[in-house]
Amino acid sequence: MTQLLLSSAVKGYVFACTEASQKECFDRKLFGTSKLYGAAAIRVKKGDFLFLLNLDSDLLYGVFKATTEAGFNIVPEAWNGKYPYQIKVEPLGEIVPLKDAKKLLKKLGVGRSSLMGRTAVLKILELYRPSNVPMNNWYQFLTQSEGSQSLSVSFEPKTWQLFGQIQRTKEEENEEVPQLQATTLWDFPKQSYGKTPKGDNKYAGVTPAELIWNLVWRYTEPGDLVVDPMCGSGTTLDVCREEGRKAICYDIAPPPSRSDIIQNDAREIPLPDNHVDLVFVDSPYGDNIRYNDQPDCIGKISSETKRFYDELEKVMKECHRILKPGKVLGWLIGDQWVKKEFTPVGFLLYERLLKYFETVDIITIVRRGQASHTGLWYNRARRFNFYLRGFKYLFIMRKPLLKKKENKNQRTINWTYYERNNKS
Ligand SMILES: C[S@@+](CC[C@H](N)C(=O)[O-])C[C@H]1O[C@@H](n2cnc3c(N)ncnc32)[C@H](O)[C@@H]1O
Repeated sequence: MTQLLLSSAVKGYVFACTEASQKECFDRKLFGTSKLYGAAAIRVKKGDFLFLLNLDSDLLYGVFKATTEAGFNIVPEAWNGKYPYQIKVEPLGEIVPLKDAKKLLKKLGVGRSSLMGRTAVLKILELYRPSNVPMNNWYQFLTQSEGSQSLSVSFEPKTWQLFGQIQRTKEEENEEVPQLQATTLWDFPKQSYGKTPKGDNKYAGVTPAELIWNLVWRYTEPGDLVVDPMCGSGTTLDVCREEGRKAICYDIAPPPSRSDIIQNDAREIPLPDNHVDLVFVDSPYGDNIRYNDQPDCIGKISSETKRFYDELEKVMKECHRILKPGKVLGWLIGDQWVKKEFTPVGFLLYERLLKYFETVDIITIVRRGQASHTGLWYNRARRFNFYLRGFKYLFIMRKPLLKKKENKNQRTINWTYYERNNKS
């Protein structure tokens, strides 16, 4: 067996096609997929092993090798633009179809949301080994072939039904790509995902990285520009870099937590109008966290005062100005319950957002890792008849294509703001 196949660097991926799209895959020597599996497919590297699953005939065609890195719209006109996450491929020897492909892939624990690790790839490669070719020669051929060489083969289908369940290594599990959320309830047990940290999970108020990942994959394409004007420990920067998006991130903290974050006040963003494809904001929710000693930190203003919302409205205006028309702003915020007083921070902020943006949707984010999520606080909440904050709002807003008309009939609520010090 060659050195390459012995090393853990062996990766593979299954692209899918239908009876209608298969011919184009073979004619163009190009495999493609939609945004649904784009995040996994785009991680395929030159030299990885590829297979093509025909969803209609349930055949798995192999073996192919990636001849380029995966990319976005390598051939824009292929499949009429339906599958823009693409890779150029070369067959390694004769193309062989394996039957009962879906059952086989299920048995191997192979899906299309992540790359196959070494264990699964080796098992599949073994199934494609021609019966007259010894194992060593087969692996040598697969790793050294540039696709032009041919092998004199006689292929006999092998049984895979006796395969045991594949145990994936930690390394292979870390290759797992997050999935696009399908409902409006998002719950991320861990702050980060994948092999490298995203942001700093010790940073007060750090954002779950998968939340940003979901916005990035829903509302941008590779190469698009994402801006985070209050980026704290830089979670947005790390997610965007890994997903091939450009990112500019600011924070008021002097100095920012890392050198790739620009110190700036979010109420004045140094970018031109109509320039950005996605803005993400995880703003302070009031004065509950001491982020830094910078006097302009909005986290020093109580969310029980009107001023808090006035200052955040200045941030909204800037987000609106820099966004391209039709593009999205995601804003994460939580309510407050302090000293027996509830403040609907989310609703108050949302009311301001509506002045500039249209609503795409509102997502509930389960709050995890809170200091108050302990048995002691749970008991207090029950005994003293209050609730601990269990969720945050993610407001997904769109900058209208046309200037937002003032709606004369829209009713505004006259909220009463309490100063905490004046309370009895
Ligand atoms: C909830 S934290 C953001 C967490 C961040 N998304 C992360 O994952 O690390 C809010 C951030 O807003 C910043 N901030 C507060 N006032 C600001 C202002 N006027 N301009 C820019 N950033 C500000 C704070 O310094 C803090 O880092």
